[in-house]
Amino acid sequence: MKRGLAAGIVIVLAAGGCTGGGKSTADRPSGPAASRVPSFSPGAPGAGDPYFPTYGNGGYDVGEYDLALRFDPGTGRLSGTATITATATQDLSRFNLDLAHLAASEVTVNGRAATSRAEGNELVVTPAAGLLKDRAFTVVVRYAGVPEPLNNEALGKGGWFRTADGAFAVGQPESASTWFPVNDHPSDKATFRLAMTVPDGLEVISNGVPGKRTNAAGWTTWTWSEGAPMASYLATVAIGQYRITTGTHGGKPMIVGVPASVPANGPAAKSLASTGEITDFLATQFGPYPFDANGGVVVADERLDYALETQSRPVYGDTFFSGGVNTGVVAHELGHQWYGDSLALERWQDIWLNEGFATYAEWLWQEHEGTATVAQSFDRTYAKFKDWSEPTGKPGPDGIFDPAVYDRGAMTLYALRRAMGDTAFAGLLKSWAAQHRDGNVTTTEFMAAAEQAAGGTDLDPVFQAWLFGTTKPPHP
Ligand code: ARG
Ligand code: ZN
Repeated sequence: MKRGLAAGIVIVLAAGGCTGGGKSTADRPSGPAASRVPSFSPGAPGAGDPYFPTYGNGGYDVGEYDLALRFDPGTGRLSGTATITATATQDLSRFNLDLAHLAASEVTVNGRAATSRAEGNELVVTPAAGLLKDRAFTVVVRYAGVPEPLNNEALGKGGWFRTADGAFAVGQPESASTWFPVNDHPSDKATFRLAMTVPDGLEVISNGVPGKRTNAAGWTTWTWSEGAPMASYLATVAIGQYRITTGTHGGKPMIVGVPASVPANGPAAKSLASTGEITDFLATQFGPYPFDANGGVVVADERLDYALETQSRPVYGDTFFSGGVNTGVVAHELGHQWYGDSLALERWQDIWLNEGFATYAEWLWQEHEGTATVAQSFDRTYAKFKDWSEPTGKPGPDGIFDPAVYDRGAMTLYALRRAMGDTAFAGLLKSWAAQHRDGNVTTTEFMAAAEQAAGGTDLDPVFQAWLFGTTKPPHP
C-alpha cells in the first residue's frame, strides 16, 4: 500500500482530462493508459533496501494478505492457501514473492493457472498474461511444508518456530516468508486476515480483531483480521495452550494470551494487564492509539529472548518477567504501535525512528510512574553510554539492534527536545504520528517535520551531532 504514490497518480490523470474522483486507476482504462503500448518486464527480486537488498520484491504493491492455513503440531506441517491482492507498479511479465522452506503446489493469477518455480527463498511467478501497470491483480498460492526460522548471522533467528505444543511466528527484520508468500519488506504494508485451523484444545492468537471460530472433525478454525496496513514482519501467530483474556478497552477488543505453563497471576500476566493503562498514558503523549484492537502475547520459549511490537498484539519473551513485573517492556512495545507500526520504516537504516522512540516511550512511562524523570533517564544513559563511534542514523545492517539505535536514539530525541523546547517537541511527537498514520517514514522526513514544528529553526547541527556524529556530543 503506497498512499503518496496513489495521490500522485490521481493528479497526473486529472491533468490529462480524466473526470471523476476515483481513488484507484486499477479497473478503469483511462485515455492515455489505454493507448499506451505496454512493455512487460520481470519485477525486481528485491525491494531495493540498501541494508537488505534481497528482502521484498519490486513491481507490485500488496493491498491484502488473506491466509487460510492448517497447522498440525504432531508433524509440524503447515499447509493452506494465500490469497494476495496487489497492484502492479510496472508492466509485469513475472514477479517474485518471498517464501522460505515451503513449497507451492498451485498458483493462479486472476483466476488463471500461472507457472511458478522456487529460487532460493523466492517464489517466481509467471502469469499466463502480462500484468498492466496500475491494475489490480489477485494471486492465489496453495502451499505446504514444515516451516523453520530464517537465520541472520548477526541478528539471530526469525520466523516460524515449532514448540512442544504448537508454534509461534516472530522475527525482525524478516519472518513472514517462513509462513506465507509475501513481499517481505516494511515499505509494502498491507492488511492481513488469517484463518488458522488447529486441533481442538489449542489456542491461536494473531494480530487484530478476533472473528468467528468454528470446528469440524476435531479441528478448530480461529480467525483474526488486522484492518490497518501492516508491515510484514509485524504479522504474528502463536499456537499452543494459552490462557486468553478477552475484553475491551476504550471500545476496542483487548486480547491477552499467556501460556498455560506460566502462572495465571504471575509477573508476566500482571505486566500485560497494564496494557490498557499504558496505552492510555502514551495516547496523551503521542495522540490517539492507531489500531482497532490491542493486547499482547507471552511466549515461553528460550529461543525468544526479546519482545516484538507485532501490530496491535506485541509478543513478549517470558524472560522479560523473570525478575518480576516489568511494565517498561510493555511501554516500549506499545510505544512502537505509533512509531514502528502505524509509522513504518521505508528502509531499515532508519530503525532509530522505531527504537529511539520506543525507548523514549519507556522514559516517559517511567516518569509518569515516578521512577525517574526523562531528564534523569537521559543523564543516566548519557553517563554510561560507551561506543559513540556507531552513528544512530547509520548503524549498518548488523547494528540495527545496537545501543546506538535504542539508547542513543532516545538521547537524540531528548537533545532535540532541548533544542526545540518542551512545547514544540510535544507537538512534534503528535503531529509526526498524525501526519504519517498508516504510512511509511524516513529520517529525512522526520528532520523536516522537526524543523517545521520548531517554527523553522535550523536543527541540522543537532541531527548531525546526535544521528550521524562519531564522537560524544556535549550535554544538551
Ligand atoms: N524490535 C524489538 C524491540 O525493540 C527487538 C527485536 C530484536 N530482534 C532480534 N532479532 N534480536 O522490542
Ligand atoms: Zn523496540
